[in-house]
Amino acid sequence: MAHFDYIIKNATCILRNTSKNWTSEVLDVGIQNGKIQSLKAGLSADAETFDATGLHLLPGLIDTQVHFRQPGLEHKETIATGLKGAALGGITGVFEMPNTAPPTDCPERLQEKLAIASKDPWANYAFFAGATPENIPQLNSLELTPGCCGVKVFMGSSTGSLLISTEELLDGVLKNGKRRVAIHSEDEALLVKRFKSLNLDSKTVFSHPEWRNEEVALTSTKKLVRLAKLNRRPVHVLHVTTAEEMAFLKQEKEGGLVTVETTPQHLTLYAPDCYERLGTLAQMNPPIRDKKHQEALWKAINDGTVDVLGSDHAPHTIEEKNRPYPKSPSGMTGVQTTVPLMLDHVNHKRLSLYRLVELLAERPCQIYGIKNKGALQVGRDADFTLVDLKTERIIENSWIASLAGWSPFDGKKVMGWPKGTMIGGNWTMLEDQLQVPLGRSFEFEF
Ligand code: DOR
Repeated sequence: MAHFDYIIKNATCILRNTSKNWTSEVLDVGIQNGKIQSLKAGLSADAETFDATGLHLLPGLIDTQVHFRQPGLEHKETIATGLKGAALGGITGVFEMPNTAPPTDCPERLQEKLAIASKDPWANYAFFAGATPENIPQLNSLELTPGCCGVKVFMGSSTGSLLISTEELLDGVLKNGKRRVAIHSEDEALLVKRFKSLNLDSKTVFSHPEWRNEEVALTSTKKLVRLAKLNRRPVHVLHVTTAEEMAFLKQEKEGGLVTVETTPQHLTLYAPDCYERLGTLAQMNPPIRDKKHQEALWKAINDGTVDVLGSDHAPHTIEEKNRPYPKSPSGMTGVQTTVPLMLDHVNHKRLSLYRLVELLAERPCQIYGIKNKGALQVGRDADFTLVDLKTERIIENSWIASLAGWSPFDGKKVMGWPKGTMIGGNWTMLEDQLQVPLGRSFEFEF
């Protein structure tokens, strides 16, 4: 009789068939040495088993945009608490952003984060290197550090000091390296000009999307795409939020040089409702906008313009968020709520479960070159997100592991919930309980 370390039985598996079309099949998954060894119905073997009847098994879902605040801002989040939130939310791995204090802009800072993550690895992890005007000549070697997922550029100021504000500097970044560069695309010159002319100090959070408006986003994204094409350097436009950018990016995607992210919160919250209900808790960069933009984001999800969903998990304490606008910091938690929110959207037929797997597993692996993950396939790592599409639950702040302790979705009822998170054949979470922290740093092809 065949031997496996573990078998997940009767799971409705989401996978591509031999013709590369999506299909869902009730199968048993035999796991050995952390890998998928067998995927078939009626597997009979001597092994510990888990009965997943009625549950959907997805390749491990990956959140490629989180801010975990360590070092320097540990009162908001640590790498360990951030990774716990990931596991509890059905996320098997994260890419963490460099705007910590100090920022992750040199090999020592990358090594420091990797060492911290390896102590409490509730999910797999990799870290971005932040581009600064000073480190441009080193970026081509920095991006090749094992455990680094690439270079991150802030074209407009957000939380922290990282900034590449001119076209000359951006051109330098794009010339120094070859991996896909992740970009926060808002035009710094316009942000500065509009902040002054709108006299924001006398305004409320309702002005946030007016300050950081469509023009701020589109101007920056057009500059970025022009320079990416000129340098033939792949770029990933993070958290795209406007109808105008989506229309533009749809035309610019051929060849795969430019890839696109949007976020679950931009697909779920909308202005002015979110500012009426949540005030500055709904403040983030780029802002949550009105329904016209949200509908354009959904269209872009379903016509293939969007490649990836990232949560932009960006915790700040309630006290910090309660400062009067515009002193209130931008950002909200998200790594733990992405899966429940998006399963709710699946249940409401806004997208298919297949499309969700593309956005959170297949495409992240393809565009960043993550090794051995992103598909239910014999030989791949046994990283899974097990979900129950029929569980109805209310998202509550008491469930949130982030040190910030709050979610903008507190009180929201959702249909669909992560039941288990598995990494390399071991559960990190089962039925809301953390299990064993056996994540590792991601490996990449480049
Ligand atoms: O709202 C945001 N918060 N957007 C960002 O780009 C950064 C993030 C943070 O780190 O707080």
